[in-house]
Amino acid sequence: MRISVVGLGYVGSVATAGLAQDGHQVVGIDTDWAKIEYYRAGQAPFYEPGLSELVEAGLQRGNIRFFHSSEVREPLGDIIVIATGTPPTQTGGADLTQVKSALQWVKEKQPEGGVIVMKSTVPPGTGVRLMDTLLSGTPFDYASNPEFLREGRAVKDWFEPDRVVIGASDERVAHTVKAMYERIQAPCVITDITSAELIKYAANAFLATKISFINEVAMLCEKLGATIDDVAKGIGLDPRIGPGFLRAGVGYGGSCFPKDVRALDDLALNNGHNFDLLRSVITINNRQRILPLYSLRQLFGRLSGVRVGVLGLAFKPHTDDVRESPSIDLIRLLVEEGAEVAAYDPVAARSAEGVLPGVVRLVADPLGCAEGAQALVLMVEWPQIVKADWGRMASVMQPPMFLFDGRNALNPADARACGFQYRGVGRDAARAAAPVHAGVRG
Ligand code: UGA
Repeated sequence: MRISVVGLGYVGSVATAGLAQDGHQVVGIDTDWAKIEYYRAGQAPFYEPGLSELVEAGLQRGNIRFFHSSEVREPLGDIIVIATGTPPTQTGGADLTQVKSALQWVKEKQPEGGVIVMKSTVPPGTGVRLMDTLLSGTPFDYASNPEFLREGRAVKDWFEPDRVVIGASDERVAHTVKAMYERIQAPCVITDITSAELIKYAANAFLATKISFINEVAMLCEKLGATIDDVAKGIGLDPRIGPGFLRAGVGYGGSCFPKDVRALDDLALNNGHNFDLLRSVITINNRQRILPLYSLRQLFGRLSGVRVGVLGLAFKPHTDDVRESPSIDLIRLLVEEGAEVAAYDPVAARSAEGVLPGVVRLVADPLGCAEGAQALVLMVEWPQIVKADWGRMASVMQPPMFLFDGRNALNPADARACGFQYRGVGRDAARAAAPVHAGVRG
């Protein structure tokens, strides 16, 4: 099939390279020249394991090409995939400006029509509305085909999805879209457009709910002296619950969960429904990311002059994405309270530079973070952090050598054996750090 993909962010770039690998003739289009230059050189403009290799392979085979939207002179093909961004609006809804301008561009470029496949995450009801407005009276067919790719494993998720979801108003359109995935082995859910759109939001909201639920149980563990790791394992073994997304810690971040949970809440409200559960999910998540701050205040009193090392800046491991990252929020608060912060991330330092307060010292390795620090906060469970030489790190720190493990990624006994005052989330709270004087230096 001949396919154009409009919008080359995380979803669009993986779709372009994945569809080409699956044997289609694919054109990737964006309005950002810098991105186009990267892709033409066989590189992804952001960190995503395996993506550059996949782009390079497509360029070598000759079935993938990249164009700036102003350069496109040829037909867009049988299928036009829309994968532009839908950033949050001020009220928490989804801003459809980029989606609408992409559709307008497609209409002008190919007035004879084609099948539009919406991969951008748009609020339920959007597709039907677009067909009644912007696409009304045009020869375009429309399908919703939400994406479930996880950053950091998006390439693997593309080729081994749990399911393919297609929402269309008629079966012929749904089957044209399904043909795009001929080589993918996965159950296919074919439904109407609005249901497909809601599947995407409900999936992300449910996963976010699981995380906030386990974080709430972790708080209870602290009160009761129970251990969240064992509790999560014990409940996750029930196949009706499942073990995924039961890792307690500083909560979810990224460009998807926070935005999509808020957007679903906003959508519900606009349709006359109070989705109370989602409000709690958001409140709990906002609280989780500042738990390390509470612990540090408890321990040091005032944080002015306290030297804190923050390990990890991305919103999770294996990505350089710092959008809605709990670590960035925490650092801003620490700096506001006068702490002296050093921070480390194996790949996200460059993307964090633009959003971090200027006084934060970015260091090259976990040891640099520990040097002279009185406290360390582990915010991202990168292997480079979890497998660091913690004994050596402890040896270059100053008392009280406090370690807040915001992802429950370390073995508490091992950390204590290194000399740390260890504190996890929902783990062994009885042994939580004892207060010391404000701003003590060793
Ligand atoms: C998420 C979904 O998992 C994808 O299916 C979806 O396609 C994507 O959003 C999207 O809508 O585009 P992603 O944002 O890449 O993918 O990240 P996840 O791996 O789902 O993690 C999200 C956040 O939850 C991270 O901050 C992670 O640290 C946190 N998390 C995850 C926990 O705090 N606990 C867990 O048990 C699992």
